[in-house]
Amino acid sequence: MQILQVSAEYFPLLKTGGLADVAGALPQALRPLGCEVRPLLPGFAAMLDGLAEPVEVGRCLTPWGQPLRLLRGWLREPASGPQAASSITSPASTGIQAYVVESAELYLRPGGPYETPDKQPHADNQRRFAALCWVAARLAEGFDPSWRPDLVHGHDWHAGLVPAYLAAAGSRVPCLFTVHNLAYQGLFPRADYEGLGLPAQWFQMEGLEFYGQLSFMKAGLYYADRLSTVSPSYAREIQSPEFGCGLDGLLRQRQGVLSGILNGIDDRVWNPLHDPHLPVNYGSDSLELRAGNKAALQAELGLEVRPELPLFTVVSRLTEQKGLPLVLAGCDALVRQGAQLLVLGSGDSALEAAFAAKAAQYPGRVAVRLGYDEALSHRIFGGGDVTLVPSRFEPCGLTQIYGLAYGCLPLVRRVGGLADTVTDADLVTLDEGQASGVVFDRMEQGDFDHAVRRMLALYRRPADWRQVQQTGMRQPLHWGDAAARYQALYRAMLPIATLAGGR
Ligand code: ADP
Ligand code: GLC
Repeated sequence: MQILQVSAEYFPLLKTGGLADVAGALPQALRPLGCEVRPLLPGFAAMLDGLAEPVEVGRCLTPWGQPLRLLRGWLREPASGPQAASSITSPASTGIQAYVVESAELYLRPGGPYETPDKQPHADNQRRFAALCWVAARLAEGFDPSWRPDLVHGHDWHAGLVPAYLAAAGSRVPCLFTVHNLAYQGLFPRADYEGLGLPAQWFQMEGLEFYGQLSFMKAGLYYADRLSTVSPSYAREIQSPEFGCGLDGLLRQRQGVLSGILNGIDDRVWNPLHDPHLPVNYGSDSLELRAGNKAALQAELGLEVRPELPLFTVVSRLTEQKGLPLVLAGCDALVRQGAQLLVLGSGDSALEAAFAAKAAQYPGRVAVRLGYDEALSHRIFGGGDVTLVPSRFEPCGLTQIYGLAYGCLPLVRRVGGLADTVTDADLVTLDEGQASGVVFDRMEQGDFDHAVRRMLALYRRPADWRQVQQTGMRQPLHWGDAAARYQALYRAMLPIATLAGGR
């Protein structure tokens, strides 16, 4: 089976969140199942750098006259070792072939993949991601004479126009569209629709129009053959007005083709037994070794190096979604009860300033690193005691799964993928060996503070604590199951003739 995977991010080349982790893991995870997944990526500098032995597949003009060059090459292996961070230094190939859409004008500029250096969306984002989607449809129709996908799998709004372009071209190649976060929709003024090369009459409610605007997300949800999202709970939640971001009606209409497949984590990158970022490697049978990581982490961040203090941690984008005001407001009580707090994150300026102020107020007890630091994030899961994820909504969430895999117990809100991955510790679940963290229900300070107290009580019972750590670490969190589910979904979408042909 040959799959073209379309995404704006790809770990380890370019990452702003979990989308990159998933896009980077799926091609490898699906390979043993007989799926050849080739990523198609926008030509950001990091993507071009990550492509070994690039060859030109062809040149073309977008519907609005933008010249593009399509490159094909081999993705490089991530560098290993403590300096690896997200930089690519190893020349070795991953054995994964990928396509990159090259256009200096569209993709090579200061700032992040979506925003300018001062955090404003790039003014031509509709064209930057429409170009990616348009090339996907060209590839489905044979633009690369040496390889043609049986199916296209698009991720998040950046790939939302893929099924629209396929439909406009009359393509018979099926498309799966996966929602990683419905809250980011790719909305643009009506005028931006002109020139994108899609039928004018599709700009309507039964199409890709959303309250007078062009919605890439809605295009994906409307035109794709099948839809998926990244946890069973989120698949249900987005069909309700509370979580549907205005698209719940359409999602209810399409519920027959919508599935929820829980993300896995990439064992090559996230395994404390061989994680090169950790001062000390350990496993579920050698948890006592974590103490070395905790002491190193406390020292590195300027926290008091005291093994007995429970170390609560946050690794997160600092946005509305993540429920971090609860952590801020709960910080005083946390410190009063003898805990430490370590936050690694970047995003919303007000949240950044508020966390920095807490660090200033509690030297030695609260430490904050503003910015993005892949290597430090590994050291945090490998040395911290608790991973806090009190999200308002969470399609899947990966940090709580890293917390489970590393014995850094998750404290999460019962929502989306958090509810699907963490089992609350109570007397019954402890007794039955099912408890893997602490889960609270309502987005209220009292509920969060109580969850912190329950976590602290568990910490004071070292045998139970260790058992909960081991339960999480011994769970099958890796991609195996999820990859098999994607494969089954792909198979269900393909015509029998393609499957019979052995692809
Ligand atoms: P989301 O995609 O909504 O941000 P996830 O939990 O799915 O949430 O994924 C977040 C990913 O980004 C994880 O791999 C997490 O470790 C990483 N991450 C988030 N913020 C930072 C940061 N400041 N530094 C390093 N890694 C980060
Ligand atoms: C999104 C979601 C997150 C999910 C990630 C990967 O960024 O916010 O919950 O884990 O995508 O699917």
